[in-house]
Amino acid sequence: AMGRTFPNPVGLAAGLDKNAEAYDALLALGFGFVEVGTLTAHAQAGNPRPRLFRLPKDRALVNRMGFNNCGADHAARCIAAQGRLGVLGINIGKTKVTPAEQAIEDYATSTRLLAPLADYLVVNVSSPNTPGLRDMQAVEYLRPLLMRVRQEADAVSTRHIPLLVKIAPDLADADVDAVADLALELGLDGIIATNTTISRDGLRTPSNRVAVCGAGGLSGPILKSRALDVLRRLRTRVGTNVTLISVGGIESADDVYERIAAGASLVQLYTALIYGGPSLPGRICRELCIRLRAEGLSNIQDLIGRNTTDNQSAA
Ligand code: FNR
Repeated sequence: AMGRTFPNPVGLAAGLDKNAEAYDALLALGFGFVEVGTLTAHAQAGNPRPRLFRLPKDRALVNRMGFNNCGADHAARCIAAQGRLGVLGINIGKTKVTPAEQAIEDYATSTRLLAPLADYLVVNVSSPNTPGLRDMQAVEYLRPLLMRVRQEADAVSTRHIPLLVKIAPDLADADVDAVADLALELGLDGIIATNTTISRDGLRTPSNRVAVCGAGGLSGPILKSRALDVLRRLRTRVGTNVTLISVGGIESADDVYERIAAGASLVQLYTALIYGGPSLPGRICRELCIRLRAEGLSNIQDLIGRNTTDNQSAA
């Protein structure tokens, strides 16, 4: 995918290794790749605690971390000093205090510092915990933002650094389509779908318990059906020209299989690791091998290839 070889398709989603301090250890758990961040141009403390809550009945989390991070400059020095053992994605967002009209400059600063160190770079415009951030998903804001980030990335490196955008599950279908069209227009390398949701619908946890958590993004299996819908929609719209990374509620090898069968080249998870523990990525990959073999496929590439052929014959 994106001109890289991934040892397996199961990645760690952004938000756990915020400061790019632990990605090698996380890769060693069996993840095929790790996405660090979200990093912002300026260091910031994030929201006051408590800001992260478990809803065990739903195997879900609510978080309003607010991009707590050490800043792009510190993270860049940290990554440069460590080197890396596997595929490293870097996710960037907007510093909270930066006004909307300077947002592009903020992302450009992070790009200059971090793009040279990234196997791929993600423009995050979908966190619910930075006021106004999700408004940047509208194509009139997103187009100049992505063009500028692309330009900065090209200016700081002679190699092509794959550029992706990460979107929210709460976008209306028409807005998902608009992002897909923009990705094609700009020659974007990929789309990551999806981030957490601001919805609280469909939870088993009693609503008074949910209300105690307050505002924030909800993650876990509750996201499965919308993440799958968004993935299918994007795949139909972009054809095979854009890499799709599916994230939201993935907990098992069957979930991974389903996303890849629906058009994802790669997947990510976060919440399932919190409930499943550090053996989860290895377990998922082993079970995925068993499932592939049972279907007469020798690897993930065969599954992706089979889908492409199916889609072409359907068309
Ligand atoms: C996140 N997520 C996230 N995403 C992002 O792009 N930047 C970030 O900084 C964070 N931070 C973050 C913190 C916490 C505590 C959680 C639980 C999640 C979102 C994450 O990457 C992913 O898109 C969603 O959590 C959906 O996947 P899961 O958790 O259902 O597998």
